[in-house]
Amino acid sequence: MKTFVLNNGVEMPALGYGVFKLDTQESCLAGVSAAIRAGYRLIDTAAMYRNEAWVGQAVRQSGLPREEFFITTKLWLHQMSYEGAKVGFERSLERLGLEYIDLFLLHWPYGDAAGAWRALEELYRQGRVRAIGVCNFTRPYLDKLLQTAEILPAVDQMECHPLLQLPELRRYLAQKGIQPEAWSPVGRMHPELTGSPVLGALAQKHGKSLAQIILRWHLQEGIVAIPKAAGEEKIRQNIDILDFELSEEEMAAIRAMDRGFHTNDDPDDPTSEGRLASRPTGF
Ligand SMILES: NC(=O)c1ccc[n+]([C@@H]2O[C@H](COP(=O)([O-])OP(=O)(O)OC[C@H]3O[C@@H](n4cnc5c(N)ncnc54)[C@H](OP(=O)(O)O)[C@@H]3O)[C@@H](O)[C@H]2O)c1
Repeated sequence: MKTFVLNNGVEMPALGYGVFKLDTQESCLAGVSAAIRAGYRLIDTAAMYRNEAWVGQAVRQSGLPREEFFITTKLWLHQMSYEGAKVGFERSLERLGLEYIDLFLLHWPYGDAAGAWRALEELYRQGRVRAIGVCNFTRPYLDKLLQTAEILPAVDQMECHPLLQLPELRRYLAQKGIQPEAWSPVGRMHPELTGSPVLGALAQKHGKSLAQIILRWHLQEGIVAIPKAAGEEKIRQNIDILDFELSEEEMAAIRAMDRGFHTNDDPDDPTSEGRLASRPTGF
């Protein structure tokens, strides 16, 4: 698998497997095991997904050495403080059943993100996590964090797909040396994507599926993508994107599809924090 080098020298796979909504032991074990068989090594989970234990179980059951994997998990909102982050990290590690985490992310930019970041910096310095980063940090949130941060985030994970390409934020991340990572990389196969004549024509021309065209676009844009799929066939399909290339013209045609459209919570929408914070926790 192709990798991108983070600002601390750590190599991160360019494509991973997202496990949001794999919320039964059976579905999560089946999905992660199929992904590992297909060649994925980056697995993206979160405390909020309540499936860290099954991700850890699938990793152990694979029999592959731990260092082959790149395991990401995230701190939820109720623990967004210095003390909360320390507790959240230990609990995630315990549920995963691992000795260290490859990438630990603040899940949303709300609450005492500066305090939580200080805790992540300590965990990083102690060697308990190989890289630390953020999710859903738009420019104002990043600028605020950088006022007090001693360590630059290695990654910013945000919703990104052809209908939401975040060109300005991505330029800013490039300037700072922060790796962009896309959640909902295939836009949850929104009808505007599945019905897109541009993507449809490219899929036909290259003999690939629509999802593969979108994931190849991410790869060529230098964005890490973590598609979620439930069935083995789709899981295999999504990683099979290395045997073709989109031309500059084709990349430009996809770039022209951007319309700043969020399929899910927009971090800059003032109602998002309340909605997300009201989700049940208990972990
Ligand atoms: N940091 C954050 O705040 C945040 C927020 C959301 C998500 N995430 C992460 O990002 C990951 C992916 O995001 P997501 O699940 O929201 O969206 P996504 O990966 O863009 O879309 C998933 C949907 O697309 C379908 N799909 C995937 N590959 C396909 C293919 N080859 N052909 C047809 N359909 C396909 C899946 O179908 P089936 O499932 O039916 O197979 C599923 O319904 C999550 O699992 C999670 O790890 C992070």
